[in-house]
Amino acid sequence: MFEVSADRSQSNAEKYSKRQKLFGTNDVLPLWVADMDIDTPNFVLNAIKKRLEHPLFGYEEMPTSAFEAQIKWMKKHHGLILKREDMFFSPSVLTSLNLSIQTFSDEGDEIIIQTPVYGAFANSILKNNRTVLENPLLENKGDYTFNFKDLTEKINPKTKLLILCSPHNPVGRVWTKEELLTLASICLKHHILIIADEIHCDLTFQKHTPFASLSTKIAQQTITLLSPAKTFNISGLAISSINIANKTLKEQFTKNYQAIYLGEGNSLAHVAFEAAYTHGEAWLKLLKVHLLKNIASLEQQLKEKKSKIKFKTPEATFLLWLDCRALHLEDEALAQYFIDKKLGLSPGITFGTGGTGYMRLNIAVSTKALKYIKL
Ligand SMILES: Cc1ncc(COP(=O)(O)O)c(C=O)c1O
Repeated sequence: MFEVSADRSQSNAEKYSKRQKLFGTNDVLPLWVADMDIDTPNFVLNAIKKRLEHPLFGYEEMPTSAFEAQIKWMKKHHGLILKREDMFFSPSVLTSLNLSIQTFSDEGDEIIIQTPVYGAFANSILKNNRTVLENPLLENKGDYTFNFKDLTEKINPKTKLLILCSPHNPVGRVWTKEELLTLASICLKHHILIIADEIHCDLTFQKHTPFASLSTKIAQQTITLLSPAKTFNISGLAISSINIANKTLKEQFTKNYQAIYLGEGNSLAHVAFEAAYTHGEAWLKLLKVHLLKNIASLEQQLKEKKSKIKFKTPEATFLLWLDCRALHLEDEALAQYFIDKKLGLSPGITFGTGGTGYMRLNIAVSTKALKYIKL
């Protein structure tokens, strides 16, 4: 099923179109953006085709059945209870994140991120004139954990929000219930609101615990951002959800949400979203097997070559966090090292503190494309 995938080079795929700009050449296999070079599953494509049979694309609202499909999925797969009245449509998790920052903090406030982490977190904070408060993860031989001591010491009256990446991009952690409970207790104690970005929650190789499922009290202090985009490769359709259980926060959010008017998404995205959450289970199982096979194959390659590059098998995501520190290259030279191997990766430094000497590689490719990844 995942032997080959469609050629994306002529389809406006950002991963391909920005190669010259980012890598100085088009002659690289793009393994940077976190979408998959794996075809969107047929049950999603079929739902879109069916919708296309209806020859009219006037205004639509996001159907209740689509929200219900996500509610059912999240309950069944993650034990998270969502309620329709707490859910908002958003075209992307980053839109939701920026709007949450604007709603729940003021200019000059501090927002915690746990680096190395998805670079758009810091950008979103800075673009909204807030201050990034880095609480770097602790690393030990490739294993990453939260640094609660550092977190507790850094929190001050200006600290308002914590953006949690769960599961974590790029280090691939699925945070345990115990880790999340400790994090929650610190946030509750200091009245810090948690924005839980759980976009990668379905691409997990072990059990994911939604932050808002930890307790009712914690759910009341959490904004959960969810999306089928990564899992079913539909980022280009621009659809996701924002979930806010706390009544006061929801009212506050609704004001800003209405003030910018995001609309209710597009007709094709609605049916794709619903189909993904309704029919996705069996395909997702197969996808995970494929991803693990790709990961194992790359591990084997590094072993056979006695490479100085190392990585820990991720607990989630199709992203490999390559530890290249033993190559002793400056970050710019390190990026060039991979470009010379015709590979376009994401430099570790774009993920903040803790990223120097690392590169992130997207392993979500077909079996055929995998053969071109030679580290
Ligand atoms: C943790 C995380 N959040 C958000 C996004 C972007 O999501 P969206 O395209 O829905 O804005 C990504 C994409 O890589 C991501 O890894």
